[in-house]
Amino acid sequence: MDLFGIIYIVTLVCTIPNYTMAASSVANILNYGAAGNGVTDDSSAFSKAWNDTCASVAENSTLLVPSGHTFLVHSIIFSGPCKPLNIFVQLDGGIVAPNGPNEWKGSIDSLILFEKVDGLTLSGTATIDGRGKGWWDASCARHPQLKGCYGRRPTALKLVYCTRVKLLNIHVINSPQVHVIVWNSQNVEIDTMYINSPALSPNTDGFHIEASTNVSVVHSIVKAGDDCISIGDKSSYIHVRNLFCGPGHGISIGSLGIGGSVADVHNIDVHRVHFFGTTNGVRIKTYQVGKGIVQHVTFNDLNFHHVQNPIVIDQHYCFDPHGCPDLPTAVHIDNVTYSNVVGTASSEIALNLNCSKSAPCTNINFKEIRLKPEKPLKSIKSSCNNAHGSTTGVVKPASCLHG
Ligand SMILES: *[C@@H]1O[C@H](CO)[C@@H](O)[C@H](O)[C@H]1NC(C)=O
Ligand SMILES: *[C@@H]1O[C@H](CO)[C@@H](O)[C@H](O)[C@H]1NC(C)=O
Ligand SMILES: *[C@@H]1O[C@H](CO)[C@@H](O)[C@H](O)[C@H]1NC(C)=O
Ligand SMILES: *[C@@H]1O[C@H](CO)[C@@H](O)[C@H](O)[C@H]1NC(C)=O
Ligand SMILES: *[C@@H]1O[C@H](CO)[C@@H](O)[C@H](O)[C@H]1NC(C)=O
Repeated sequence: MDLFGIIYIVTLVCTIPNYTMAASSVANILNYGAAGNGVTDDSSAFSKAWNDTCASVAENSTLLVPSGHTFLVHSIIFSGPCKPLNIFVQLDGGIVAPNGPNEWKGSIDSLILFEKVDGLTLSGTATIDGRGKGWWDASCARHPQLKGCYGRRPTALKLVYCTRVKLLNIHVINSPQVHVIVWNSQNVEIDTMYINSPALSPNTDGFHIEASTNVSVVHSIVKAGDDCISIGDKSSYIHVRNLFCGPGHGISIGSLGIGGSVADVHNIDVHRVHFFGTTNGVRIKTYQVGKGIVQHVTFNDLNFHHVQNPIVIDQHYCFDPHGCPDLPTAVHIDNVTYSNVVGTASSEIALNLNCSKSAPCTNINFKEIRLKPEKPLKSIKSSCNNAHGSTTGVVKPASCLHG
């Protein structure tokens, strides 16, 4: 332990005979040799400060990244398990990534990774800037012919095997690839976050949530080059509320069933989302070769502003330019409700339920849907293939669901 770096602030002293314990401790990154000038590599200061924070005997342990400074870090890993009941990373100073692939020294998996941490609160007024431009310009997504192009690029902020996590107020911008990944984690609350990267930045999803349970994303703004939120396999009890999405590709569940895998996604609810100029609104996409199920999904109170494809189910996801054959298996999609949906669509097929013959979609419910064409003289319609369910109240364009 760095005795000079860690300062115990005793807010409560339990005096059991011969036993005194600090209730909270604070490790200020500036006491660990961080320069905070945005140029010097401060990664090792973060590692040292994290080690003390994680090993602290206090009940609440804080890693303080003070305002008025910008910290350049390469790939940093904050590993648990930790001793304190609660860990606070107070991020008030800015964090910047190395400027593009040529300057990147660490692992290209992620800029900031928390793994196996229980009881983490990451909050503050800071911006984490992934400085992704150099990566986007050298990405295979944008330049498939480029020799040495980057298929995989770093994620700005990643949680892996974490439990009881709160991410509050942080801004994450210009990530080389996905901005925030939540993977194999439980009980995660994401609140008042701001994600921003250009509409044409490749694969820069806002949040990707996978193999996780009980994750909520609320009161946040996502402007990105890919999905605002994408929900991957083995996810359940995912709650999205009060989100502004766009530019971006909308909110998607999937792609599921890649390589014939057995999907299991259930209890997803998306409430009160405004979509601005996104390519899709809410989309469920599954590969043709997949198996398993997606069920108990509700999309409620959606507001579409000039969205190309507001509601999409695509069970024919396939990368082959010649198309894929309709195989005897598919990921079953069951019990999906779309209610209180308003706004404008810019493509003709505003409701597109393109389900497969082998595993038709079942129990799809449309309630109170009032979509209009973006341009008054154009018309919009719905299209259904193998989609079964019911409608309640007004549905415009008229529903094509089979009973
Ligand atoms: C530790 O933090 C929690 C959550 O903020 C707080 O409720 C609790 O009072 C703190 N405990 C101590 C001993 O400071
Ligand atoms: C932090 O702790 C880990 C595990 O105990 C150790 O491997 C690493 O060297 C420590 N890092 C620093 C900067 O002290
Ligand atoms: C879900 O996570 C929240 C914290 O984000 C927690 O308060 C709640 O108890 C969790 N629910 C369940 C069923 O574990
Ligand atoms: C359909 O899903 C909703 C949650 O989205 C759930 O409340 C309801 O019980 C499910 N219906 C059936 C028949 O399973
Ligand atoms: C449905 O999917 C098939 C197979 O990918 C595709 O050929 C067809 O155009 C799609 N229909 C609609 C209405 O999108």
